[in-house]
Amino acid sequence: MKIAICGKGGVGKSTISAFLINALASQGRRVLAIDADPSPHLARLLGFPADQVPEPVASMTELLQERTEREGAFYNMNPKVSDLPEKFLVKQDNISLMVLGAIQQGGAGCACAENAVLRNLLNMLLLSPDEDVILDMEAGVEHLGRGTIAATDHILVVVQPYRGSIETASRIKSLAADIGIKSLHIVANNVRDDEDMDFIEQETGIRPIVAFRTSDEVRRAERKGIPLSEAGDGFSRTAHELVKKLEEINAGQ
Ligand SMILES: Nc1ncnc2c1ncn2[C@@H]1O[C@H](COP(=O)(O)OP(=O)(O)OP(=O)(O)O)[C@@H](O)[C@H]1O
Ligand SMILES: [Mg+2]
Repeated sequence: MKIAICGKGGVGKSTISAFLINALASQGRRVLAIDADPSPHLARLLGFPADQVPEPVASMTELLQERTEREGAFYNMNPKVSDLPEKFLVKQDNISLMVLGAIQQGGAGCACAENAVLRNLLNMLLLSPDEDVILDMEAGVEHLGRGTIAATDHILVVVQPYRGSIETASRIKSLAADIGIKSLHIVANNVRDDEDMDFIEQETGIRPIVAFRTSDEVRRAERKGIPLSEAGDGFSRTAHELVKKLEEINAGQ
């Protein structure tokens, strides 16, 4: 499965991405995690050593151009995950992490090149049945306008029980429909009670596929800077439930 996690800034995209990645990996699946946030955190949340940061995909543009000149269009070759150049990946057990990369300077222009690389990669990447790609997206809606994630199987929109996050979710929903995304789901986060769930359902018009509750363990782990895999809690159970639901949706498609 290729799954993109979107939503307003700070709603819990990276946290939920990390739990989803760990859940899939613990089921023996091989996961390509892509951190598409211009200020990437996923490596820390997944417990990759701080000195093991992959080269950002942004610099792949040059490499791809080189390869294309030498061997013909790389994008047309339907690369497998194992074909991806090693220097853009760090691996830990069955998780490989790729980082999209940040715009280095303020006012350095748009992230078009990075997004084009990501869009093509997602489009062409051939997955075997035991492989998944999880994309922790940049906050907001800009990447949807660029069609970066058009080739994903599922978009998960993380929503918290407050209006701002729901407004962003509605914009994501409408832009996703424009680029032909068929499987979009709302993931509720930081939920305390039924009232929170009802509010999200009422305002989005969609029953969330799963709900992650407010978690003291996650808050603590984040503050200590320790991997989220050590913040057990109900969070991990909900992540497994999310995997199961997505698999059911796939089976029904
Ligand atoms: N259910 C939860 N319970 C407690 N804390 C949470 C929960 N979900 C997220 N957090 C905390 O909220 C903060 C923001 O989460 P996170 O970084 O995952 O959001 P994000 O959407 O990826 O943010 P950004 O838009 O900056 O990338 C973090 O400190 C995280 O630990
Ligand atoms: Mg994030």
